Amino acid sequence: MYNVVISGTGLFTPPYSISNEELVESFNTWVQQENAAHAEAIARGEREPLPESNAAFIEKASGIKSRYVMDKAGILDPLRMVPRLPERSNDEPSILCEMAVAAARQALERAGRTAADVDAVIVACSNLQRPYPAVAIEVQQALGIQGFGFDMNVACSSATFGIQMACNAVQLGQARAVLVVDPEICTGHLNFRDRDSHFIFGDAATAVLLERADLASSPYQFEVLSTKLLTQFSNNIRNNFGFLNRAAEEGVGGDDKLFVQEGRKVFREVCPMVAELIGKHLEENDIQVSRVSRFWLHQANLSMNQLIVKKLLGRDASAEEAPVILDTYANTSSAGSVIALHKHQDDLPSGALGVLSSFGAGYSIGSVILRKR
Ligand SMILES: CC(C)(COP(=O)(O)OP(=O)(O)OC[C@H]1O[C@@H](n2cnc3c(N)ncnc32)[C@H](O)[C@@H]1OP(=O)(O)O)[C@@H](O)C(=O)NCCC(=O)NCCS
Repeated sequence: MYNVVISGTGLFTPPYSISNEELVESFNTWVQQENAAHAEAIARGEREPLPESNAAFIEKASGIKSRYVMDKAGILDPLRMVPRLPERSNDEPSILCEMAVAAARQALERAGRTAADVDAVIVACSNLQRPYPAVAIEVQQALGIQGFGFDMNVACSSATFGIQMACNAVQLGQARAVLVVDPEICTGHLNFRDRDSHFIFGDAATAVLLERADLASSPYQFEVLSTKLLTQFSNNIRNNFGFLNRAAEEGVGGDDKLFVQEGRKVFREVCPMVAELIGKHLEENDIQVSRVSRFWLHQANLSMNQLIVKKLLGRDASAEEAPVILDTYANTSSAGSVIALHKHQDDLPSGALGVLSSFGAGYSIGSVILRKR
């Protein structure tokens, strides 16, 4: 068995940002138009007026101030409220591939590696833009990597689950290095007309290179001490979009074919599960929680992260201990915890311990214990 390190991380940030105020203005314009169009039915008491959204509520409830997106105009157009991402020909790189490659190139550069040093690509994300050929194989070809690639989806936990798969392959000698890439266009499956969730997501792509420790020469190495995964079925975060939709015409275009959640229930049920899993994982590795310098947590909700770390530490965590990126990125699904890792790692001294953890639909939870080399 070989020891494994994360030898490089990468991040692609989309070109546009939308503030809460901009998003709410578009939403409320749409609400006013809808209410005006149904004014008579509302006056007759046959229909409830739609309530407006509120930027202050969004920041207070979630910690989100703005989000990066692949298309801004389509989302903010009250007549559309969907990103406009034109189809590309089969001869052009697909948009997920393009984002993945940008993040992967940065991870390779930080690792001091080229495509020739990598034997596999895993694209791990919540939403794959087509069933096949695998986006990972397209990324593999775009980067010029020999070997194999495959796609996998464990929703928001895709990155940590992908890291465990990559770790296994490197430990067993099946690959010298594996790229795990998480391209997320969450705005593509977000219902911008749902007041409860229209503010939740943003877009981004991240990449992590996992390498055999004895081969790695990067100045940015983290030894992977252990990984632990858990899943437990829940309908509280769900999306019924899929290839059988066309076989049931009655459901096509329904709201359930986009992201739907019971936010309160998710909050209540997932926080204790995550704290318990991380706590158990550290205990199994004889690591006291107080020795962990950093928690790079999934970035969905600020209070959720504060609560999880408080349950673990028995006190409030500082901004250094549990870095926040969701204020400017929102929830980028599987990319979130890796963005936190990418942006908040260079200050850690050699020997420092950290936990990378994701959680989300499934339910699914992943924990990766890292030690700075
Ligand atoms: C989604 C989330 C931010 C909502 O926050 P919340 O405090 O639970 O909010 P609720 O949905 O209970 O709504 C609280 C109130 O705000 C109102 N509200 C909801 N959306 C609103 C909006 N956009 N603008 C203004 N008010 C809003 C509700 O109508 C409700 O009003 P009421 O108390 O009069 O009934 C929060 O539940 C969350 O982040 N949960 C975890 C989600 C998660 O991690 N998901 C993983 C996804 S991968």
